[in-house]
Amino acid sequence: MDNDSSIAKIAAILRDEAVRLGPGARLPSSREIMRRHNVSPVTVSRAIGQLAAEGRVVTRPGSGAFVAHQVARGEDPADLSWQTVALGDRVVDEGPVAELLGVAADGVVPLTGGYLRPGLRPDRQLAAAAARAVRRPGAWAMPPLPGLLELRRWFAAQAGGDVTAADALIVSGGQAALTHAFRALAAPGTPVLVETPTYPGALVAARAAGLRPTAVPVDRDGVRPDLLAEAFAVTGARVFLCQPTLHNPTGATLPSGRRAQVLDVARAAGAFVIEDDFARYLTGQAPPSLASMDRHGTVVHVGSLTKILSPSMRVAAVIARGPAAHRLRASQLVESFFVARPLQETALEFVESPAWRRHLAAVHAEIGIRRDALATALAARMPRAEPHLLPAGGMHLWVRLPAEVDESALVEAARRNGALVSPGRIYYPSEPPGPRIRVTHMAAAHLAELHEGVRRLAQALDEVSTNPWSGPGRA
Ligand SMILES: Cc1ncc(COP(=O)(O)O)c(C=O)c1O
Repeated sequence: MDNDSSIAKIAAILRDEAVRLGPGARLPSSREIMRRHNVSPVTVSRAIGQLAAEGRVVTRPGSGAFVAHQVARGEDPADLSWQTVALGDRVVDEGPVAELLGVAADGVVPLTGGYLRPGLRPDRQLAAAAARAVRRPGAWAMPPLPGLLELRRWFAAQAGGDVTAADALIVSGGQAALTHAFRALAAPGTPVLVETPTYPGALVAARAAGLRPTAVPVDRDGVRPDLLAEAFAVTGARVFLCQPTLHNPTGATLPSGRRAQVLDVARAAGAFVIEDDFARYLTGQAPPSLASMDRHGTVVHVGSLTKILSPSMRVAAVIARGPAAHRLRASQLVESFFVARPLQETALEFVESPAWRRHLAAVHAEIGIRRDALATALAARMPRAEPHLLPAGGMHLWVRLPAEVDESALVEAARRNGALVSPGRIYYPSEPPGPRIRVTHMAAAHLAELHEGVRRLAQALDEVSTNPWSGPGRA
């Protein structure tokens, strides 16, 4: 039950609790609140959201909700409750994305996160590229609306095949690309097929665009073409979102035979394939893109620089042909006109400099070392937890837990022990098949910290396995 009255009731209870606990104190975990009051996670998150909007609590992704300081000083926060009525029920669920973008507190080992940690980022070379870029003639003028021609040419060459600069549109990062693609390619209320599990940011973006994400299972080689065909037939969907290379979270890469099958299946269904090629640079062995194999305008390809450079290098390209390309451009123009020219110029300076190749080589070497170290540490300390596969690159391992493990209890116990991992359930558009976690190896400061993180995680697994009543929400 998460109607307005139960949200208001929980918000009132939490308001009292905040006053009782005092400034800086941590509110009970969402799980605990759910258990105590027998309410859904949505009710809890909306009630906490209301208190945050009132300035009574501050939420810290990955750590919880804390009583704000002003409540204790007796200040009367403004009454913003009218907004709840004015806004109605058009809630965008940003929770999973906020969780993924959360920063670990001091002393906590991040075994989650989707970007290179500061020491692995090419910050110095990016600063040099930015300094050169802003001095280029016209750097502060309006760019060509679809993006700088040279940058579009670069992205087109990365996608391969007969893709040209004319097919590419520069947008503000992969997340924006997915949002534009969902809006442009499918009408609200219609289904969109997604791999299950899949990237939670794609699920929330699809839902925010009014679409209904519908699950198609993957195995060690990525999405299963037989089930994809069945899903198209059952749902009538005209869009399939696919991560064919280093799929997040499993790390699977579609072999070339399956790539051709996926395209054939989509084409037979008269459907688009959104190819989220977010991880192309996180391996030295990325196969040719789906876009490079496409002759019919089936593939809408998304390439992005954020993962390999910096989360703030919000430069990506959407590559499409025909009316779909037109709609994508319209979506970008209407929403934000274009991507800031100095950022586009910086991206171009960087990828055309010798620093680009050097950086790729350094990251690929580091990924190999950390992936192997994580796999070895997991095998030694958590032999009952089984990685889905050892991917050819990327930042994570997708780990299956013994069926009896309470995934939320484990994630919470790990957090208490000082290690953050990503809970499996946020990656599923429908029921998860069992307990899973995504464990990231590229976020820890160094190998010693990575090992320490696995030690804390293993301890948490022992705690929840030997004492199944020790999880959050258990008395
Ligand atoms: C699979 C996948 N696609 C897209 C994105 C969006 O990344 P960005 O918007 O930073 O390019 C992410 C980020 O985590 C991701 O994991």
